[in-house]
Amino acid sequence: MVDVILGLQWGDEGKGKIVDFFAHNYDVIARFQGGPNAGHTLYVDGKKIVLHQIPSGISHENKVNLIGNGVVLDAITLKRECDNVAAMGVDYKKNLYISERTHLILPTHRAIDKASELSKGNEKIGSTLKGIGPAYMDKTGRNGLRVGNLLDKSFTTEYIKLRLKHQKMLDSFNFQEDISSWEEEFFEALDFLRGFKIVNGEYFINEKIRQGQKVLAEGAQGSMLDVDFGTFPFVTSSSTISAGVCTGLGIAPQKIKEVFGVSKAYCTRVGSGPFPTELNDETGELIRKTGNEFGSTTGRPRRCGWIDLVTLQFACMINGVTQIIMTKADILDALPELKVCNGYNINGEAKNYVPFQMNRVAIDPVYKNFTGWQKDITTITDYKALPAEMKNYIAYLNDFLGVPVKYISNGPGRDQIVVA
Ligand code: GDP
Ligand code: IMO
Ligand code: MG
Repeated sequence: MVDVILGLQWGDEGKGKIVDFFAHNYDVIARFQGGPNAGHTLYVDGKKIVLHQIPSGISHENKVNLIGNGVVLDAITLKRECDNVAAMGVDYKKNLYISERTHLILPTHRAIDKASELSKGNEKIGSTLKGIGPAYMDKTGRNGLRVGNLLDKSFTTEYIKLRLKHQKMLDSFNFQEDISSWEEEFFEALDFLRGFKIVNGEYFINEKIRQGQKVLAEGAQGSMLDVDFGTFPFVTSSSTISAGVCTGLGIAPQKIKEVFGVSKAYCTRVGSGPFPTELNDETGELIRKTGNEFGSTTGRPRRCGWIDLVTLQFACMINGVTQIIMTKADILDALPELKVCNGYNINGEAKNYVPFQMNRVAIDPVYKNFTGWQKDITTITDYKALPAEMKNYIAYLNDFLGVPVKYISNGPGRDQIVVA
């Protein structure tokens, strides 16, 4: 049996905290897509950890954590992250496994990402510049190197061949930066990677499922950043939705049971691209400040706005979401009035769907106003004790989306969560 936790917005919904919270119910926690563009924050014994490559179940003893084949892996980031968690007493050597089919991010992928963004002028995607796009391009272009190849004698020869191809691309961008120090670090990190538990991920996970073990698949990014269904081209390069669990781990769709969709009580986006409910005013600024909305991976300020039920409903549809987990509800504590976008006005016409290309049309969000609760909810543990105004807000979401909000996260701590 497999449950999924994934983001319903543009990433940073609080997936890391939620995976960490639920991990004790599972035997295996597996990342199925994305790479070090992800930044998943958890607090273990009050100490903050930001994970980019390692699944968010790592702090739990005796839980298998798997980096699945759908992930792209930066060995340098992984090595750094392993050192960090080891310093906090986490035994990653025992619990962390990597699929042999996982593609490697090479130093030249990072360079191409950077060169490509620089060449875009005003049309930049706002990539995290971690080499995600170029690594997935090499995968679908049938060129990439995989973790399993590390054990091949021909690895270095294949690397050099690919390096030459990439150099041609870098030359075409007129990219001048010297990446030799990245390469040195990369080769060191590969030696570290060779010492890992490298497994055939699909047999590994299916055998666990056959034995009755429970798997939690951890998504990165969010549904509106999905390469097919997101706000293309302002998206990431992987399938961030529940379908990505099947291809990213090698499991059949019938094995998936619950799909937990994580959404903030408002909305954020980091990087460029359309964001209909964005607030470019003091309320947006207040949410950014109160919510500490700065990227976990890049430190960039996140754009903030009201919750958008048009995109949320779309995300529930494409993912088959069975339960919603609403995070950062406490960030709205001080606001006297809240707005919920329940439709779009496009060229003067009322619409309730996500248009083909959001940035080609002028979207005027339609809002319903709600009275804020103006109470500190961070210490509440019982749903009944939540303010009536908040229950009213949640009831509207439940009705509109047809999927229940089952958990309300009211602080960054592992235990700050209320069951509805
Ligand atoms: P992820 O990428 O989806 O894992 O989310 P990030 O870790 O990038 O960003 C979420 C941020 O919000 C982190 O700093 C979390 O510690 C924090 N966070 C998560 N849930 C809550 C919550 O309910 N309330 C508050 N105040 N912070 C939260
Ligand atoms: P987590 O897992 C928020 C955004 C980038 C950029 C676009 C493409 O922490 O939620 P990429 O590096 O993939 O080429 O960038 O996607 N992006 C994220 N935004 N959270 C993330 O991950 C993101 N990963 C990528 O800002 O707009
Ligand atoms: Mg994040």
